[in-house]
Amino acid sequence: MEFRDVIRARHSVRAFTDQPVSNDQLQALLEAATTAPSWSNTQPYQIAIARGGVLESLREELPPRFDKLAALQKAPMLKKALAWLRKDGIPDGDFRPVVNYPEDLQPRRVATGHGLYQLLDIGRQDKQARHEQMRDNFRFFNAPVALFVFIHEGLGIYSALDAGIFLQNFMLAATDAGLGTCAQGALGLWRSPLEQHFHLPNQYKLLCGVSLGYEADTRVNQFRPERQPLSELLIKEK
Ligand SMILES: Cc1cc2nc3c(=O)[nH]c(=O)nc-3n(C[C@H](O)[C@H](O)[C@H](O)COP(=O)(O)O)c2cc1C
Repeated sequence: MEFRDVIRARHSVRAFTDQPVSNDQLQALLEAATTAPSWSNTQPYQIAIARGGVLESLREELPPRFDKLAALQKAPMLKKALAWLRKDGIPDGDFRPVVNYPEDLQPRRVATGHGLYQLLDIGRQDKQARHEQMRDNFRFFNAPVALFVFIHEGLGIYSALDAGIFLQNFMLAATDAGLGTCAQGALGLWRSPLEQHFHLPNQYKLLCGVSLGYEADTRVNQFRPERQPLSELLIKEK
């Protein structure tokens, strides 16, 4: 594909077919991603790859955690406090999840969410359908591969910047190869299930995940959220 076509074609895929991704394909995408620039060429990230049995056990383990968390959000204070004490259903990721969005960004987030639910014919009051859609994150949207991105704590925010460039390289390479991806902050909510399957170095902190596979021909994958006009992103001269 032409480079411009690749960057235009990439979009978040939220439904994958059962078609597997071969080791060679995955290797090629990762090799492409490692050409990304990074702070002093430190490449301050590590990737855990979940597929096969590991991915299946995560697909079983994560959705019930999300169900518990969603139920807790509606629970009375006392129940919430007890859950915190017992660490039951509470995220144990390395970074605090964003709960309250900044006032100027919240409308963009809301518009994107509404756009997705509208496309899926999910009404504002249909809490169950919204929950199911969000829950699908934790099933990796049926993808045959999921990557978990960890960043070195020693470089602070710059590690996240570098991981972002790596991720975009990876996602563009996947698009070019006819594969689909979805970057998922949701997959950063729980670290402990990953500890069971991977040797996670302490100094590497879980940033997010990304699902990879072949795009299913379904409505959810037609979603193309609008971008802000460029002028909104430019800082005005004094
Ligand atoms: C760091 C990051 C985290 C994201 N987390 C999620 C997520 O948890 N679940 C999800 O469905 N989409 C997630 N997305 C996808 C965004 O919603 C998507 O990129 C945005 O709406 C623009 O749409 P597009 O990727 O189709 O162009 C994430 C994207 C990024 C870059």
